[in-house]
Amino acid sequence: MSALFTPLTVGAFTVRNRVALPPMVCAVKPSLGARGADDAVTDALAAHYARVARAGTGLVIVEATAVDAGGRCWAGGIGAYDDRFLPGLAQLAAAIRAEGAVAGIQLVHAGPQGSAALNGENVGPSAVPARPDGPVPRALTVAEIHAIQARFAAAALRCADAGFQYLELHGAHGFLLDSFLMKSRNARTDAYGGSRAGRLRMLEETCRLVRGRLGRRALLGCRISLFNKLDEGGDPGARLEALVRGLEAAGLDLLHLSTDGALRPAGQLEPEMGRAVGAYGQAAAPTLGQVVKTLTRLPLIIAGGLGDPHDADRAVADGHADLAAVGRAMLDDPEWTLHAREALG
Ligand SMILES: Cc1cc2nc3c(=O)[nH]c(=O)nc-3n(C[C@H](O)[C@H](O)[C@H](O)COP(=O)(O)O)c2cc1C
Repeated sequence: MSALFTPLTVGAFTVRNRVALPPMVCAVKPSLGARGADDAVTDALAAHYARVARAGTGLVIVEATAVDAGGRCWAGGIGAYDDRFLPGLAQLAAAIRAEGAVAGIQLVHAGPQGSAALNGENVGPSAVPARPDGPVPRALTVAEIHAIQARFAAAALRCADAGFQYLELHGAHGFLLDSFLMKSRNARTDAYGGSRAGRLRMLEETCRLVRGRLGRRALLGCRISLFNKLDEGGDPGARLEALVRGLEAAGLDLLHLSTDGALRPAGQLEPEMGRAVGAYGQAAAPTLGQVVKTLTRLPLIIAGGLGDPHDADRAVADGHADLAAVGRAMLDDPEWTLHAREALG
């Protein structure tokens, strides 16, 4: 049997196989449109996720969902920042679980990459725009940082109440939690910046707070990305190690690594990283997933370029990750998992 179609138990939850749908905002794909006004779930959205689950997908992670009305990413995205969203979130979780998948959801605060039109203003660790020509965010006060952390916890509890079994904090792609990690965006001189430990504090504290409030009711994970920090200099191996170990210590159950090429050697993604692990340019050089797996015992989800079922299978079989997330290929073919099972025999 292929490695991809073996079950995985994490805590009290068993995922029926190693195939995951990574979070993907469907508003970006107009054919999946039919979005509700006011950040609410629609029947069309629930039907989309149910279809992916029905195809046999093990873990279905619903798209980035706002924890704060002031931290929305896109018009047409969904929210978990108020109890009025509970029925829609419950509809989504039930639709996924009814098809035998573990129901996950990603929680986001947009930070400097928010829609200023929706949010009124964008906020961030510092007044550094996400793009050179982008709007300048307002630097958060420490009291506002704590309030946003509390909103992550409140949204996580709301999603657990709605029936979600896996909650994922969006610590990738330059949104708020990731912006705190980024040297280029975090120029703070207080406890939430100024050093590697300071830049890690926002994400670690948020994970710890959510874990504390949530207990073991649901699995907790965090998505991270490195490809948007290629210009940070320093020792990327040490940076990655501090990030991964810090998240493990914060009490996560899973780590989700977003890459721009899951099966490429780490050194091709980030030459400095390759040198840091001493294998740059070697044919058998480890991938980022393999590097991360030497740093932590946490089960690892990996995404990026695994749309060919044989690649997804190899990612699991060869120890690059424990779960293979398949993004764009599943948007194109919601029955991807069914077809992958046929292809792998
Ligand atoms: C339309 C679209 C929407 C996305 N939305 C999100 C999102 O909400 N949260 C997130 O972490 N990544 C998001 N991503 C990134 C995907 O989760 C995934 O990491 C990326 O597409 C690479 O995987 P792939 O090569 O299998 O497509 C999105 C990608 C696409 C194409």
